[in-house]
Amino acid sequence: MPESPELPAVSREWHLLSRPVGWPKPEDFALVETPVPTPGEGQVLVRNAYVSVDPYMRGRMSAAKSYAAPYELGKAMQGGAVGEVVASNAEGVSVGDHVLHFSGWREYAAVDARNAVKVDPGAAPLSAYLGVLGMTGLTAYAGLLRTASFKEGDSVFVSGAAGAVGSQVGQIARLKGASRVIGSAGSDEKVRLLVEEYGFDAAFNYKNGPVHEQLREAAPDGIDVYFDNVGGDHLEAAIGSLNQGGRIAVCGMISVYNDTEPAPGPRNLARLIQTRGRIEGFLVGDHYDLQPQFVQEVGPWVASGALKYRETVVEGIENNLEAFLGVLRGDNTGKMIVKL
Ligand SMILES: NC(=O)c1ccc[n+]([C@@H]2O[C@H](COP(=O)([O-])OP(=O)(O)OC[C@H]3O[C@@H](n4cnc5c(N)ncnc54)[C@H](OP(=O)(O)O)[C@@H]3O)[C@@H](O)[C@H]2O)c1
Repeated sequence: MPESPELPAVSREWHLLSRPVGWPKPEDFALVETPVPTPGEGQVLVRNAYVSVDPYMRGRMSAAKSYAAPYELGKAMQGGAVGEVVASNAEGVSVGDHVLHFSGWREYAAVDARNAVKVDPGAAPLSAYLGVLGMTGLTAYAGLLRTASFKEGDSVFVSGAAGAVGSQVGQIARLKGASRVIGSAGSDEKVRLLVEEYGFDAAFNYKNGPVHEQLREAAPDGIDVYFDNVGGDHLEAAIGSLNQGGRIAVCGMISVYNDTEPAPGPRNLARLIQTRGRIEGFLVGDHYDLQPQFVQEVGPWVASGALKYRETVVEGIENNLEAFLGVLRGDNTGKMIVKL
């Protein structure tokens, strides 16, 4: 089997030891040494170069029934990753190819070649396939254009606006002719970035005062679309500012992911009757048919700089867990990535 010379004997990977209650604690996890796997028939061995950490992983740490199976206790966790093929036992994939796959949280992974997508490191930086041109980018594109039925002239509000998904939602809306783009984020520095670098018309720090008051000020004529990454008081405020025929795409509710009791729902849902408003959740996994259209439309904006993006890069597999916790805390601006 073709393989790179000088493969190490040992790889490190993160295991979930116990299901976190509330905020995950370091003792819920362990970084474990394991022999570098030998790829079976139809598999390739990948040396991960960049590993993704994403808010949805908090859900997989719980045993609750959801759209993705819970992580198994005592086994390596999974997630998006890109890396170089260092041994191949599969037709069509060669040593030296780069692939996107789903065996993150580890240094080396044996991956079924049919579950690995070749990516071109010459066309975009490898990390971009995890973020701006990858899962979070498609989430922004599909949620805004399909679920929220965005149309030119809409006034759009997005929460988590300095994060991976949110920063792209706001910029896609601007590039496609939104009448006004409003974002919220958790620091004054992030708010400045939204307005000065990403071209949002208005932005506010949700920690500086009640969201409904700050939103009314930022969107005096109301909003047509709310892209929800946060839930809680953001969702209630957005319903309160919704215009006739307004649409709310529920992408995520990060403000409740570590709650141990169900959060109270918005108290003003009745406003949806008056406004004929619509609220709809979506999962990016249902929208991969849009991937070619997404890359075709957004790729050139990224290449030309019309759509800007940031990454927060944490180095070392030993810091994979801290990077994940950092996403929940808001340490990141743009996509949080672990570089190995
Ligand atoms: N439906 C889908 O298919 C799908 C796919 C991908 C992601 N998502 C969801 O989309 C959202 C964004 O994901 P992402 O990957 O782009 O993450 P991200 O926005 O890059 O990172 C998460 C951000 O959430 C903010 N945050 C944390 N706690 C908060 C709170 N209590 N209130 C308000 N903001 C809070 C933090 O920024 P601040 O500093 O601004 O607080 C943090 O940087 C998440 O809810 C995620 O679960 C859904």
